[in-house]
Amino acid sequence: MKPTRLRGNQLIRDLVKEVAISMNDIVYPLFMVEGTGIREEISSLKDQYHLSVDALEKEIPFLKEKGIKYLILFGSPNEKDAEATPAYAKDGIVQQAIRKIKSLDMGMYVITDVCLCQYKSDGHCCKFHPDGTIDLEASLELLSKVALSHAEAGADMVAPSDMMDGRIGNMRETLDENGFGHVPIMSYSAKYASNYYGPFREAANSAPAFGDRRAYQMDYANREEAMREMELDVMEGADILMVKPAMPYLDILRTGKDTFNLPMAAYQVSGEYAMLRLAVDQGIVDEKAILESLIAIKRSGADIIITYFAKEIVRLLEVYN
Ligand code: PBG
Repeated sequence: MKPTRLRGNQLIRDLVKEVAISMNDIVYPLFMVEGTGIREEISSLKDQYHLSVDALEKEIPFLKEKGIKYLILFGSPNEKDAEATPAYAKDGIVQQAIRKIKSLDMGMYVITDVCLCQYKSDGHCCKFHPDGTIDLEASLELLSKVALSHAEAGADMVAPSDMMDGRIGNMRETLDENGFGHVPIMSYSAKYASNYYGPFREAANSAPAFGDRRAYQMDYANREEAMREMELDVMEGADILMVKPAMPYLDILRTGKDTFNLPMAAYQVSGEYAMLRLAVDQGIVDEKAILESLIAIKRSGADIIITYFAKEIVRLLEVYN
């Protein structure tokens, strides 16, 4: 068989095409801040905005018009403390944002990022013992409290991004005991200690005040370790497994997809977005490279892609398909 026989014209190419993306695959991150009337471009993330809760009244219809159906919410409160109290406060910004989006009734599916780093004064995703080691018990208790507060506010799904051992099981139990057995958990299972999170940490104001996250995020040299992380999350009851970042970790995604019978998500993170955005805006690569990146992520096994490019996908698909 001659492979080129199936490439002669667009019709035959479309007929044998293996992978396509649609807005049913795409999740868009939103960054919530305190205050009113705020829609401020994040300096490190072009065309991404810090939003106050009231600004959602305009933003949600705008995003819906862009074809977006799935959101993941991040919060960046003004005041942070040692106990991460703004993370689980009933009137915290994420909790308020969930209620606002639901009250707008535009059919948006709301996922929340569950972590402590944006809410804790030291910018870490966990609590520590006085000797500097991770206080797992206290961390898990706090994280589950955050997830429960999101579910109580009406979140459709929670997504823990902290990487503490045992968090999925603990969270599942807390949700189930409190009447939220129907709320799925999308676990950031294979989250690498990556250099590609830089712009996000500025967006969420969550750079660690001391040290780094290598005590709990994964070494980017490791692949088998990712499989162990995913396996634990599966056993503890995760509904969806995530690999993060996306483009430099397509091998992890593919192995995860082939190994576990669960939907896979991939997070095309802030640094990946910033690089590609810059290259496209400067005319160094064609904007079709954005679609190529998303197709590559899906082809590698992702059922779900979290991406800052979400607002442009419908237009790109119309122009290039
Ligand atoms: C919080 C969190 C981070 C990202 C998502 N959730 C940052 C980090 O771990 O430092 C990164 C997202 C991005 O870079 O777009 N734990």
